[in-house]
Amino acid sequence: MKAHHMTTLPFDGEISRYFREEAPAEVREAIETADKDDILSDDYPYDEEIKSKDYDREMEALQLELVRLQADVKETGKRMVVVFEGRDAAGKGGTIKRFRENMNPRVVRIVALSKPTETEAGQWYFQRYIEEMPTAGEIVIFDRSWYNRGVVEHVFGFCTPKEREKFFAQVPDFERMLVDEGIHLVKLWLNVGRAEQLKRFLQREADPLKQWKVSWIDVEGLKKWDAYSDAIRETLERTHSDYAPWTVVRSDDKERARLAAIRTVLRDIDYAGKGRIEVPDPKIAGGPDIWNA
Ligand code: ADP
Ligand code: AMP
Ligand code: MLT
Repeated sequence: MKAHHMTTLPFDGEISRYFREEAPAEVREAIETADKDDILSDDYPYDEEIKSKDYDREMEALQLELVRLQADVKETGKRMVVVFEGRDAAGKGGTIKRFRENMNPRVVRIVALSKPTETEAGQWYFQRYIEEMPTAGEIVIFDRSWYNRGVVEHVFGFCTPKEREKFFAQVPDFERMLVDEGIHLVKLWLNVGRAEQLKRFLQREADPLKQWKVSWIDVEGLKKWDAYSDAIRETLERTHSDYAPWTVVRSDDKERARLAAIRTVLRDIDYAGKGRIEVPDPKIAGGPDIWNA
């Protein structure tokens, strides 16, 4: 059976079974003993989630800035690319949703490519991504990106080690060309802890509105936490450059992560009417050195 023909049904109960029978004891315990607003990762810099009142106020102000950015992008013909990466359930979808909530879909385009078709698989790896690059006046958000080859394709054996090495050899030139071309490139890596990720999967499994988000990759990926960690560490190390740096965003508290992600996007770009953008919370967002798992 092809992966795209599979519904979520074959995985019914698979995540709770993993939780009961296979998850490391400390991960299970963290989930079982947590209070509602607790943050599950031990090394997270805050004990509790941000207050909703603060979050709402800050998000509204940032969305207003995004609307100003949008007007300027349209007016001046800027081109912008924002890459969202991170483990499954890290919060990419939710952050992108807030980012575009009050924006014009003609200006902000989301690109979430499926696994390569046979034709795409026969092309240069970057080809299908290049086709999605913005024209003047566009912001393109990649919900996953060419970095699939660094992590998920490697962990699941969808590419050969040789293909992955070629990818790492080509990424710096590829991104250098985008930046030289005048495309404003922002790379965000959302980082979620193991217990928090599992908790989110359990919630998705139990919610008919969210079950579609659970894929075979997610279920199998649970058992490959350490392989993912190694692949992510290597990818961040090998693809962080001064012209195309990574910002790692701790995403155990989704709301703090969304604020930090949007601030990162707004911080480095000039646009008409720009207000004062607070620096992203340095405990939440930083270079690859703040990544750990
Ligand atoms: P999502 O994160 O969108 O829920 P999945 O977790 O199912 O999607 O898959 C993660 C990523 O792996 C996706 O970008 C998907 O396109 C990619 N992927 C899945 N199967 C393959 C494959 N056979 N070859 C290459 N990439 C794949
Ligand atoms: P399995 O768990 O091996 O039964 O596979 C579950 C699904 O994942 C099947 O629909 C397969 O088509 C798909 N799958 C497994 N391995 C690969 C792979 N290496 N490349 C692409 N798809 C795969
Ligand atoms: C996320 O939350 O990071 C995205 O929705 C990806 C996923 O479905 O796991």
